[in-house]
Amino acid sequence: MGTGIAQSVAAHGMPVMLSDIDLPTAEAGKGKIEKAVTKLVGRGKIEADAAEALLAKVTPIAGYDPMGEADLIIEAATEKEPIKQAIFEQAGKVLAPNAIMASNTSSIPITRMANSSPDPERFIGLHFFNPVPVMGLIEVIPGLATAQDTTDRVTAFAEGLGKQVVLSQDEPGFVVNRILLPMINEAVFVLGQSTAGIEDIDKGCRLGLNHPMGPLQLADFVGLDTCLDIIKVLYKTTRDTKYRPAPLLVKYVEAGWLGRKIGRGFYDYSGEAPVPTR
Ligand code: 3HC
Repeated sequence: MGTGIAQSVAAHGMPVMLSDIDLPTAEAGKGKIEKAVTKLVGRGKIEADAAEALLAKVTPIAGYDPMGEADLIIEAATEKEPIKQAIFEQAGKVLAPNAIMASNTSSIPITRMANSSPDPERFIGLHFFNPVPVMGLIEVIPGLATAQDTTDRVTAFAEGLGKQVVLSQDEPGFVVNRILLPMINEAVFVLGQSTAGIEDIDKGCRLGLNHPMGPLQLADFVGLDTCLDIIKVLYKTTRDTKYRPAPLLVKYVEAGWLGRKIGRGFYDYSGEAPVPTR
């Protein structure tokens, strides 16, 4: 998701540093952006010189030191709290005096993560949606200690990316994932109980609800491990059994069938068109 965020920021004329576990991975991230904008040029969506200008604004970096120059640091690592905490601690050592630190977490409490940052008043949730350059929404989630000035500044930043903002309190899953994940989880229960097959579940939601993707296709798109992580956060933090993970979702993740990113989830993506796995 980090590359999508970087692409959107650069597309709106702002310089962006792209960081990952090491420099080659960050450079590969920029390669992904290059591929996406080349496709847009090919389809006549943007001019070649605009694509070039966009790419010139993206700088892959190694380590945390260059982040000392940033006005805003957006963490978009995997949904594992210890990994995120380590990033906030490291980036916090170089955070500029007036800069803001934001997390693109899907569901982990902002108030709790703010404790790993040097200044909880300048820590906030900034939740993007996939694919970031296409989706029109950003959720802004202030934690208990977040200053109003921080909320105002990230809201202005999000609107500067051409996105609309929904403000959410720091409650499990915020607004959208609190609603989306139970739907995806329920779709997996429907599949597990053989009420319908993969194609019919997705077709039902595409045609019956006018959703662009069915819930199982969307789960593959988001990543089944990410879906499971989010529903587990909802279950753990609320202790409400309505959020218990569907056993089949757990099984798919245990099998390593994590969705589109590995070529197999509820669908197999190895051929020309996705094929349902059940
Ligand atoms: N940069 C800029 N534009 C891009 C792009 C990119 N990287 N990738 C695609 N686009 C543009 C295309 O140019 C196209 O533009 P056009 O409509 O003007 O021609 C448009 O996006 C649609 O792209 P495609 O034609 O390639 O694909 P589809 O029409 O099949 O749409 C989709 C793909 C946008 C992914 C659509 O299926 C969709 O909206 N699906 C639902 C996505 C969704 O629900 N996302 C939220 C997931 S939840 C989440 O992210 C939260 C997390 O915490 C879990």
